[in-house]
Amino acid sequence: MNTIYAKMTEEEIDREQIRLAGEILRRGGLVAFPTETVYGLGGDAFNPESSRKIYAAKGRPSDNPLIVHICRLEDMERVAARVTREARLLAEAFWPGPLTIILPKRPELPLETTGGLDTVAIRFPSNKIAKAMIDAGGGFIAAPSANRSGRPSPTLAQYCREDLDGRVDMIIDGGQVGLGLESTIIDLTDTTPIILRPGFVTWEKLQEVLGNVNAGSLVPDLNDETAPKAPGMKYRHYAPQGNLTIVDGPQDKVTAYINEKISIHRSEGIRTGVICTEETKNVYAADLVKSAGSREDEESVARELFRILREFDDEGAGEIYAESFDSTGIGRAVMNRLLKAAGQRIVHLG
Ligand code: TXA
Ligand code: MG
Repeated sequence: MNTIYAKMTEEEIDREQIRLAGEILRRGGLVAFPTETVYGLGGDAFNPESSRKIYAAKGRPSDNPLIVHICRLEDMERVAARVTREARLLAEAFWPGPLTIILPKRPELPLETTGGLDTVAIRFPSNKIAKAMIDAGGGFIAAPSANRSGRPSPTLAQYCREDLDGRVDMIIDGGQVGLGLESTIIDLTDTTPIILRPGFVTWEKLQEVLGNVNAGSLVPDLNDETAPKAPGMKYRHYAPQGNLTIVDGPQDKVTAYINEKISIHRSEGIRTGVICTEETKNVYAADLVKSAGSREDEESVARELFRILREFDDEGAGEIYAESFDSTGIGRAVMNRLLKAAGQRIVHLG
């Protein structure tokens, strides 16, 4: 298939291209589009054939449910069987924005879209291109992140092209996304609300609105069958081609540990990459040293992480070491993605 490319900004939306994207979606096609978190790969949520195409284009297992994106608060009721008081409070506080809410689904919503589950994940993004496209496409757009399964979520349209060119009908380039990590997911179908995926809407903020919220585990325990989890968590995520290890501890020890590894790998002829911060970018002797921003600026680290992981693949890093981050606030989302990318390989130095 020939992929159509469009380019626009939130300030200057190209109405003609949005109309075309809407037409493609309404007749069952797929469109990759920017949101404030990461790029999504959209299809009509009420069309089971569209959902099947999404799984095929991504190479994603079809038991991994999709998020339904809406562009009006009241549309929550068209996909959720019951909109609870908590759901209303969260929607009012955080929508449009980077929060996904899980509720029981309405029977009309195809099981193909929810990966066979009787619940539905709903999100109302704030990106203006996303909102215009969802509206043009009929109002209910199922969309996972627009990457091939297992790769980091795309923060730039060029990464959608790398992963999906020729596999989707259209890719809308809206520039670099603002946040860079996927939405927070909160499950409201149990007695206590629980976070299934940490993100920019932090546990602290959710507690302010709902009171009692279970923070969920930093990374899901894959061996605990009883632990609540998003089905997607059991799959390999974001993993770069090189071996990624997180190194945690006092900075002088971290520096010494990583530099020793670098010299060992160099003698083995392996290129080594380091994910660090502005404060430490000059202390490593690695072939590839990438700063994700200042340690003071967690949002920068969140925005740059997936780009850095992709760049290491392009540059052939065989071994990658990442500094560790505080697991509070947005740092919790950063550490969650890093731990998944590293297959939970973390070294603690005393
Ligand atoms: O920021 C985001 O959420 C991005 C943008 C495009 O909106 N989307 C995104 O979708 O990250 P995806 O498919 O890559 O991740 C969605 C996660 C998966 O782990 C999936 O298993 C989980 O949400 N999920 C979806 N529906 C669910 C449900 N009904 N119950 C539990 N988990 C669900
Ligand atoms: Mg994803």
